[in-house]
Amino acid sequence: MGKNVKRKAPKIKTPDQYKQTVNGETITGGHGGFARIDVFHGKTFQAMPRKIFITSALPYANGDIHLGHLVGYIQADIWVRFQRMRGNSVHYVCADDTHGTPVMLRAEKEGLTPEALIARVHGEHLRDFTGFGIAFDHYHTTHSEETRRYAEDIYAKLTANGLIEARAIAQFYDPVKAMFLPDRFIKGECPKCGAADQYGDNCESCGAAYAPTELKHPRSAISGAIPVLRESEHYFFRLSDKRAAAFLREWTRSESRPGVRRLPLEAANKMREWLGEEGEYKLSDWDISRDAPYFGFEIPGAPGKYFYVWLDAPIGYFASFRHLADKRGDIPVEDYTDAGKAAAAGTEMVHFIGKDILYFHALFWPAMLEFAGYRTPSQLCVNGFLTVDGAKMSKSRGTFITARSWLDQELDPEALRYYFAGKSNGSMEDIDLNLDDMIARVNADLVGKFVNIASRCAGFIGKRFDGRLGGIDAPATEAFAAAWAAGDIAAAFEARDYSRALREIMRLADLANQYINDRKPWELARQPDKAAELHLVCSTALTLFRDLARYLKPVLPALAAQVETFLAIAPFDWQGPWQALPAGHRIEPYRHLAARIERARIDALLEANRGSLAPVVPSPAPTIAIDDFARVDLRVARIVEASHVEGAGKLLRLVLDIGEEKPRQVFAGIKSAYAPETLAGRLTVMVANLAPRKMKFGLSEGMVLAASDPDGKTGGIHLLSPDIGAMPGMKIK
Ligand code: 2FM
Ligand code: ZN
Repeated sequence: MGKNVKRKAPKIKTPDQYKQTVNGETITGGHGGFARIDVFHGKTFQAMPRKIFITSALPYANGDIHLGHLVGYIQADIWVRFQRMRGNSVHYVCADDTHGTPVMLRAEKEGLTPEALIARVHGEHLRDFTGFGIAFDHYHTTHSEETRRYAEDIYAKLTANGLIEARAIAQFYDPVKAMFLPDRFIKGECPKCGAADQYGDNCESCGAAYAPTELKHPRSAISGAIPVLRESEHYFFRLSDKRAAAFLREWTRSESRPGVRRLPLEAANKMREWLGEEGEYKLSDWDISRDAPYFGFEIPGAPGKYFYVWLDAPIGYFASFRHLADKRGDIPVEDYTDAGKAAAAGTEMVHFIGKDILYFHALFWPAMLEFAGYRTPSQLCVNGFLTVDGAKMSKSRGTFITARSWLDQELDPEALRYYFAGKSNGSMEDIDLNLDDMIARVNADLVGKFVNIASRCAGFIGKRFDGRLGGIDAPATEAFAAAWAAGDIAAAFEARDYSRALREIMRLADLANQYINDRKPWELARQPDKAAELHLVCSTALTLFRDLARYLKPVLPALAAQVETFLAIAPFDWQGPWQALPAGHRIEPYRHLAARIERARIDALLEANRGSLAPVVPSPAPTIAIDDFARVDLRVARIVEASHVEGAGKLLRLVLDIGEEKPRQVFAGIKSAYAPETLAGRLTVMVANLAPRKMKFGLSEGMVLAASDPDGKTGGIHLLSPDIGAMPGMKIK
């Protein structure tokens, strides 16, 4: 047996020392540390487990899950798994969003009933999510009795509260199809720029927004018929009511717990704009009914009128949870959904959503809940969009990648989880999946650093020591025990700053590898008198490997489970004090844990996803010298503000911070591609030394860089963004 060095116990902190700030929130009782349960001067302190109801946005039942969807689901799942490891009580649910015209028409096109279509898609979605390790407690459907009951109850309570109003509106009607047409199903010429084949709500060419009745030469996109205007009675949720505005103004700015905002700050500011100032009532009433034929729930007492899909979609969160609770029998679901009971029980409701559906979750949904006596969301965790290799996902480039195709190519789903986690910092910023960078990152970190630790040491334990571990080299484990005690990694997970968590974990992996490099077990193995040292070094390295696997478990649950089996240990949690693996503990023979990703696999993936359209690739411009390039002063810029420009068809006005005293004003021709409210806060690249240009609207003091096809139309316009970590003013070279 090697010398069994006992590691020094980490210094015990007082409960107050555990106090730390996570995302502006002060956490005591060990929440931010390594344990929720701790012993201090012989006394046991136990932080109350949190009771959290967590949801992910419900995907529509008429399309495949793609990597753009997975960003949000993976972010949510990591948080869910982390909270579970902490010993908190978590219920994580989702469902298919099944109602509405597109589902109805899709079913018709496939020759199916809507019920048959949504049943099939439910199976596909669940299979895809399961394939990526998304650990829902239940995956439901909005076409369920639970949804119907909640929707009817909420509607009845809003009616009783005087917040529902019926009034007639005129709408386009397809006389051939005999149905009212949603804006997206009407096409015609843009009333502003004349571009052909534009949707009924906005022009993709000039970016103008308008009513479908303003389109020139409108046509039904379903039958091609010329639509006619027809009156019909609709039901409205009266958001123009002063009570609604007053409630939302307060709610969107409030915190659910000290230091934890209900909405990200940038979203709260946006809401302030939409809501207006005190005394202003800018919200319009919300049309919550649709006429037959429609796939949805008929409104009680209103034959032929159906709840609009966006009314019952978020209700699907409750419905899914209710179904789970009924099945399980031990979840007090009202403690999570009823306003009074939730406050008394201290439960939380956290929604993970994409920034495109913020409006629904930050205004309509909380208002519905509030005025129907239900609890409102504790927190909205909002993710940005996904780009692939710096551009919007595109069928012609094969970057519109479905979840299914990734699994079919036998690419490791955890490679994507790892990469997305590494790019997620808890903000609403867009994420870029750079395929080469992903390959490099996964191969370097997971295979080169993490798995490498086990593969270099495990064999010796098996062959030389009958699979049994020896003693532990205490000093080598110090940094790991300290990380555990300080809880930095835990705090990063809590704040959804997974990028920081992974950086920290990889720093520890470097230390572990350095230890092996220094102690060279392969050399020790050749010297018969060094058996004890060999045993110590390999046992220590495997203990560090165990710790890394534990930290990585929220991100890489399948890999962590393999490690649990290999080390013959109980499933990891994130509680209690740090402990070494005991001497004499027997591990299983080492088996290969992770494979490198090869570029060829990714190429096959792109090929499998490539649509029929050929990409438009311009030929390269004439060569320039490096000095020519150096004359262009490129800087990272933060978009402080973005707004429409009165009278400009293509331009947005941007205010850009490049670290100068006064921000710059730039007019950019990106209006067709970006809604200004999606730009504020994001980083881009600007030419800082372009001569200022006097325009009709004001002075333009530079330009921002964007990618587009040669005609600037077919492939859209894509603003450049630097990788996470870049700061305004940084020079680009
Ligand atoms: O945007 C969407 O994909 C919607 N189906 C999301 C609904 S989330 C929730 F409200 F149900
Ligand atoms: Zn137009």
